[in-house]
Amino acid sequence: MTRHAARLLPLALALLLPTAARAQAPSGARGAKAPAKEAAPPRRATSAHVEAGGERAAGEYLTTVGGCNDCHTPNWSQSNGRTPPSERFTGSNVGYRGPWGVTYPANLRLMTQRESENEWVRVLTTADGGDGRPPMPWMNTAQMSDRDLRAMYRYIKSLGARGERAPKAVPPDSEPRGSYINFVPVAHR
Ligand code: HEC
Repeated sequence: MTRHAARLLPLALALLLPTAARAQAPSGARGAKAPAKEAAPPRRATSAHVEAGGERAAGEYLTTVGGCNDCHTPNWSQSNGRTPPSERFTGSNVGYRGPWGVTYPANLRLMTQRESENEWVRVLTTADGGDGRPPMPWMNTAQMSDRDLRAMYRYIKSLGARGERAPKAVPPDSEPRGSYINFVPVAHR
């Protein structure tokens, strides 16, 4: 196993285990019927929030420990978290493939310029009204307080527009064009 693959493995496992149990189509076979639409995750009212030297510091802290860079920042893991803020959150054109089709981590630098802060909160607390797909950890962001969600938005927006939009998600029965990571458990025989 390459060093990079070894480094990504714990992330992949942590993400895969809960997701796979919930989203894996019974047959797991290609061409299997798409799983039922994911329900919106539960939202727990909380006033919990981080204390930091300003909103920007809070946003940087929250996105880092919240794992947002892991998927939305290219080479975050490979650089051991050394990617400077100016280069973060530009999304990825390497998809994640599973029973949900292929999804691509959005370019959050462009999204925060395009969408309002209220829309950001709505999307992150409702899994985009139940339309959001794995492996985006919607069930985790749904538990964050409005204050912390808004701090993340303001921080990412303050970094300015950068990069291109990520490719559109590909439905389960279509073949994606570019690269993707297979997020499907393989049974050990
Ligand atoms: C395991 C990878 C992963 C992690 C970790 C992750 N995301 Fe995502 N995110 C995605 C993917 C993939 C999508 C696209 C989902 C889809 O197409 O349904 C997405 C979508 C989004 C969207 C919706 C974008 C839009 O245009 O509607 C927002 C906002 C978002 N992520 C923010 C975050 C934040 C904030 C964090 C950290 C708390 C985070 N993500 C952590 C993979 C991830």
